[in-house]
Amino acid sequence: MPAVDDSRVCVVGGGYVGLVTAAALAESGHEVRVVEADAGRRAALRQGRSPIHEPGLDELLARLVRAGSLSVTDDVAEAMRGAGMAIIAVGTPPLPDGHADLSQVCAALCAISAVAGKDTVVVVKSSVPPGTTRELPRLAGLRAGAPPLVVCPEFLREGNALEDVRNPARIVVGGDDRAACARVLALFAHLPGHRVATDPTSAEMIKYGANSFLALKISFINEIAHLCELAGADVQAVADGVGSDPRIGRAFLNAGLGFGGSCFPKDVRALEETAGYHGHSFWLLKAAADVNALQRRRFVARVQELLGGRLAGRRVAVLGVAFKPGTDDMRQAVSIDIVRHLQDLGARVSATDPVALDNAARLMPGVRLVADAYECVRGADAVLLVTEWPEYAALDWERVAASLRRRVVVDGRNLLDGAAMLELGFTYAGVGRPVMRPKPARTLRGSGRGRLELVDGAGGGAPVSRPGSARPGPRRDAARSA
Ligand code: UGA
Repeated sequence: MPAVDDSRVCVVGGGYVGLVTAAALAESGHEVRVVEADAGRRAALRQGRSPIHEPGLDELLARLVRAGSLSVTDDVAEAMRGAGMAIIAVGTPPLPDGHADLSQVCAALCAISAVAGKDTVVVVKSSVPPGTTRELPRLAGLRAGAPPLVVCPEFLREGNALEDVRNPARIVVGGDDRAACARVLALFAHLPGHRVATDPTSAEMIKYGANSFLALKISFINEIAHLCELAGADVQAVADGVGSDPRIGRAFLNAGLGFGGSCFPKDVRALEETAGYHGHSFWLLKAAADVNALQRRRFVARVQELLGGRLAGRRVAVLGVAFKPGTDDMRQAVSIDIVRHLQDLGARVSATDPVALDNAARLMPGVRLVADAYECVRGADAVLLVTEWPEYAALDWERVAASLRRRVVVDGRNLLDGAAMLELGFTYAGVGRPVMRPKPARTLRGSGRGRLELVDGAGGGAPVSRPGSARPGPRRDAARSA
């Protein structure tokens, strides 16, 4: 068996986690080879271009590829030559029944094991449900002799990935082989953050527990937001007040359209499935997922209400389709459900996004996708803010107001300044806050019978919530067709 060197690292999988981990390790002096199956991605990477939109990644990759510290191949054997560490960072997408699909992880482990050196350590960075890694050699069909496996979950956020990978809050390492765990801790010794060394199943549980808890926090504040709407409170103030308790924390208490992306929806579901497998019902997770689904329907119901109870034939402009700002990732983006629901109710939808339109094209049939936000909103009956890109707060809203058919803004992320919107004559509805509506201009109009009568001139038409007033839930037709 060839001698191995821990400064040589093979990373299998050139997606978010794989690429960012590889870049960060190469940046800190390691020689990193990425194994990527997709030819288009390999070609982009060889030119030092990132195949995903992630701030700063293009520049970093270009520098590392030029310097030769990061290279890409489709051949595991080539990437493994002399490598002390093999990192598995392939996808674990959900199967239709909610379980994580482990086939890519198993295939990666087989390929690595076939060529691993005597002392190679395999690091599992893919998110795998608690209990998986100890079973992996069996699941992958490996006989005795599989290299030691160490779970080292990743906690980076898309759109913030480089910052997170360079400054992690913690490094979690879980394995049954203590020497192997020590080597993985040494691999990341240059990074700050708390260290947690544990067994593999606990390390896996930490990853799923963290994502599920954050998802719970989001669904909790969205429930509070709904209650705020009914009771006449403002969820922003409530989140500030509740979140300023250090035991709770303000992060992930932003009420809005709920969570999307490739991680929270999948991990909440997978943990719930894992609980079910062990004969346990994880009710909190079921509730978090239900609230998350309902949040999108409530939003569409509110749009409908503000447009006089009817969406058929209305023109609706959607600002932002990516699952969050800073990324072109459309996986499980809330925009997909919202747009489909609006279309089901007969609305004509246009949408814009700073970077995600290419990825959105095949997911949003029948939607007019336009790069220019001003073009997107022209002639609309309502503007819906779905992804909180800062660009949309910085729009010239006076110009937007002038180009609309009705001045109605429904802000699904509480990004905009409601008072400023009101001054521009908008009816403004956030999430979990009272609707702000311009005072109806009362004008005199001839009745045709020689009398003059007072007429309200506001644009929205529908009744809105007022502090203390009870409001009905989502309209039944809107909620049903989701
Ligand atoms: C999430 C975790 O934050 C990372 O720690 C983890 O590594 C990653 O999943 C993963 O498992 O790979 P990410 O999905 O990139 O990261 O994005 P987040 O910033 O966590 O946002 C997730 C979703 O929650 C987004 O749709 C966002 O709009 C929503 N969100 C977030 C809210 O609705 N309210 C909030 O207060 C915060």
